[in-house]
Amino acid sequence: MPGLRCLLTPLLLAALCPPALGLQHGPAKIAVVGGGIGGSASAYFLRQKFGPGVQLHVLEKEALGGRLHTVDMEGAAYEAGGTVIHPLNLHMKHFVKELGLSVTSPESSLAGVYNGEEFVFEESSWSILNLLKLLWHYGLNPLRMSMWVEDILDKFMRIYRYQMHDYAFSSNERLLHAIGGNDFLQLFNQTIDEAMQKAGFSQKFINEVVCPAMRVNYGQGVTINGFVGAVSLAGVQPGLWSVKGGNKLVCSGLIYSSKAEVIPGTVVSIEPKTRPSRGGDPVKVYEVTYNTSSGLTGDTYDIVLIAAPLGRKLANITFRNFDPPIPEFLNPYRQAVTTFVHGRLNASFFGYHDPQAFHLGTIFTTDNPKLFIHSLGVVSPVGDTDSKLPFLAVWKVFSKEELTKEQLNLLFSSYDSVKAKRWLAYPEYSPPEKFPPVILDEQLYYLNGLEQAASAMEMSAIAARNAALLAFHRWHGHSASIDQEDLHEKLKTEL
Ligand SMILES: Cc1cc2nc3c(=O)[nH]c(=O)nc-3n(C[C@H](O)[C@H](O)[C@H](O)COP(=O)(O)OP(=O)(O)OC[C@H]3O[C@@H](n4cnc5c(N)ncnc54)[C@H](O)[C@@H]3O)c2cc1C
Ligand SMILES: *[C@@H]1O[C@H](CO)[C@@H](O)[C@H](O)[C@H]1NC(C)=O
Ligand SMILES: *[C@@H]1O[C@H](CO)[C@@H](O)[C@H](O)[C@H]1NC(C)=O
Ligand SMILES: *[C@@H]1O[C@H](CO)[C@@H](O)[C@H](O)[C@H]1NC(C)=O
Ligand SMILES: *[C@@H]1O[C@H](CO)[C@@H](O)[C@H](O)[C@H]1NC(C)=O
Repeated sequence: MPGLRCLLTPLLLAALCPPALGLQHGPAKIAVVGGGIGGSASAYFLRQKFGPGVQLHVLEKEALGGRLHTVDMEGAAYEAGGTVIHPLNLHMKHFVKELGLSVTSPESSLAGVYNGEEFVFEESSWSILNLLKLLWHYGLNPLRMSMWVEDILDKFMRIYRYQMHDYAFSSNERLLHAIGGNDFLQLFNQTIDEAMQKAGFSQKFINEVVCPAMRVNYGQGVTINGFVGAVSLAGVQPGLWSVKGGNKLVCSGLIYSSKAEVIPGTVVSIEPKTRPSRGGDPVKVYEVTYNTSSGLTGDTYDIVLIAAPLGRKLANITFRNFDPPIPEFLNPYRQAVTTFVHGRLNASFFGYHDPQAFHLGTIFTTDNPKLFIHSLGVVSPVGDTDSKLPFLAVWKVFSKEELTKEQLNLLFSSYDSVKAKRWLAYPEYSPPEKFPPVILDEQLYYLNGLEQAASAMEMSAIAARNAALLAFHRWHGHSASIDQEDLHEKLKTEL
């Protein structure tokens, strides 16, 4: 008696009584590919929208967290991937609160900008002196920059209101257009250099202040698109925070709270299938094939969300027998290497004759081909820093290639341990940007195309919420909640 069995528990319901009457019933089973912040936030938002009846699987080939990952060094853990979160990243803020996690702020240290020959700017511990130095070097450029970034951020914040009201967008262009219209889209058609020159910033300021921020955040210079450039500049503003214990705790927390099941395996292919239904019309499902420690296996799902960058060198998923076929994903990702070094910096490498006079804890760099690093800085562990602080500092170095022994011997006068983590870190940014689609098939969605606008934890969370809303509205035929024009004006009167 299936009718009786269905009363046992709501969670069994989906498994025992697949929807027979078509799409007005919820989906029985949803797969999320990838257990990074995008995938785990997807699980959270899918559960929120589809309710307790649906079975959620998160397929993950490595560890939960993805590009949120810590490295152990001298008995403490340090963030090796995504590290800082902006105070106005509202999804990340909400997750941390919801999960009862604590936050920490990075310890501040004095920063300098090195151009390969000398420091073009050095902070001192005297804040009034810093202000005067900034004015002397760059006039009102720094102040105007804050306002310029603020203006972009103000527009960007509109996405939260749209999502709070359950609106979804069928493409990344439409989502970005809804935020700020053609003016905003224009940011993706020009470099940050062009955008800031047009806005009247001096070339000296762009080279010595803006460029170093691009290099530390995205390993690229001022040729990246204007929006990811602005995100980078916001990433050096005050008030940044991280999750105590490691940002990846948000991923495991969201998966736990969404009651999703994590399936360890590498997804190798996805293929559409039809399943006969009692209602008459055949139902489309997706067969997801994945490789586990015990070999190839698979399962079928009503809805699939892909929350990992697609491409042969990345997630490497083959889409079989789709009509029309799903094109190859060619957007290249850029390599970046994070190296942790427990040691003493070689101040004379940075032109200091008297190492005692060296007091900087963060070194940014300008675009100089002879520099083999993007930035370096002293870092604190993700957990509580008890009294047993290491005698020598732990430095985190960003570079494009892995550092050779010779390079380490130049940067450090002595060191006792080194750990490196290599990433295919973020898209290669090069305007005009072309965005991959969100909808790959009827109920097959792709989140990471939004990274082509800017890669950040919050962007993955926004893409996750959009995809969950889109899947829900398309399943139930709520077309009025998709791609609404002039939302900003419409919602103004609603509050
Ligand atoms: C060095 C570095 C520094 C950064 N700094 C910051 C920062 O300070 N602030 C910030 O906001 N952002 C930062 N970012 C960016 C941020 O980390 C990413 O944008 C974000 O973590 C991406 O999350 P995601 O879930 O979309 O992708 P990912 O974290 O890449 O998750 C994808 C997951 O899918 C899995 N996967 C891939 N293919 C398959 C497959 N075929 N089958 C099964 N599983 C698969 C992967 O193992 C991975 O776990 C940084 C990134 C790097 C690399
Ligand atoms: C950006 O450039 C593309 C072509 O590269 C063009 O189709 C698009 O209309 C441009 N967008 C804006 C907002 O100017
Ligand atoms: C599956 O994984 C095993 C071991 O990890 C590997 O040898 C094999 O080639 C993989 N198969 C496919 C189809 O990727
Ligand atoms: C992608 O996967 C296919 C098998 O599915 C394999 O033959 C190929 O070598 C993989 N490509 C890369 C770059 O790993
Ligand atoms: C430090 O840097 C200087 C200048 O680049 C270099 O000559 C020296 O070999 C480096 N190493 C040590 C241990 O001083």
